[in-house]
Amino acid sequence: MSTYTAQSHPNIAFIKYWGNRDNALRLPSNGSVSMNLDGLFTRTTVTFNSSQRDSLLINDHPVSGKGLERVSYILDLVREMANMNERAEVSSSNNFPAGAGIASSAAAFAALAVASSHAAGLTLSEWQLSRLARRGSGSASRSIPSGFVEWMMGTGDEDCIAVSIAPPEHWMLTDCVAIVNASHKKTGSTEGHALAWTSPLQAGRVADAARRLEICRNAILNKDFETFADIIELDSDMMHAVMMTSTPPLMYWQPTTLGIFHEVRAWRASGLSVGYTVDAGANVHVICLAEDAKEVEKRLRELPGVSDVLVAGVGGAARIV
Ligand code: DP6
Repeated sequence: MSTYTAQSHPNIAFIKYWGNRDNALRLPSNGSVSMNLDGLFTRTTVTFNSSQRDSLLINDHPVSGKGLERVSYILDLVREMANMNERAEVSSSNNFPAGAGIASSAAAFAALAVASSHAAGLTLSEWQLSRLARRGSGSASRSIPSGFVEWMMGTGDEDCIAVSIAPPEHWMLTDCVAIVNASHKKTGSTEGHALAWTSPLQAGRVADAARRLEICRNAILNKDFETFADIIELDSDMMHAVMMTSTPPLMYWQPTTLGIFHEVRAWRASGLSVGYTVDAGANVHVICLAEDAKEVEKRLRELPGVSDVLVAGVGGAARIV
């Protein structure tokens, strides 16, 4: 019986993943690029023991049903690899508020993959961990490696994994997450991915994804902010165009979301290095150079409809703590 605790960061995608070519294996329709969010983390402890079933605590609250099933699915993969049968006690907590527009599933499944494989006595490579995390939540594959990360489409389950393209210190970027008050409940990503191909725009988005990804990867490697901002905004807008035109349609933006887009573009036109990107929610991730983060945060806080701003630099890899 052994206990391990792992910690991992959520990530924000610059080139987005939306829609799968295989929903069960979570093989994405296109490759994606992200950065880990420093300072925000999920910490997960896994203990295998002699109890009858797996149990899950999230922020000290017991979780059953679908949430537990999704965790047990990963534990089953680990048990199979380790050739063992013990059930596990899983306890997880986040240091960032729920519903803050930060995809908690990415950090959660990355931490679960690292903690559970160690607790089962396995020594998995970063590739294997990324692949395992992916089976719980697609974007979790990107929270395994450090810094700036590319999740490759691969040819199948084996090589559909994420790798670091640059360490955190490569480029001092900051994500200022503008929290927008959204009253309605959002549709979760798993349901959303399944709707992607009902949009006539998805085929065009996917066909052009490799081109956008290459532009984004090069902009990161060359620290070319202008090109970077243009491509992340285009990619985010294209994903939301697919969401809005799927059946049923998903409309995540609120009036404040759109208002921030206009502000960010005006700030950039006047010389500030800023760009926006939005996940499956109304909150806007405003990406800027670390040296401008204070100014960007201040400007965002002054906008009507912005209730809070979370600030995160570039984070490292998922690890045992
Ligand atoms: C909009 O990885 O949360 O954030 O695999 O169903 O858990 P599941 O989906 P998830 O989807 C993330 C979608 C996105 C874009 C992105 O992060 O690439």
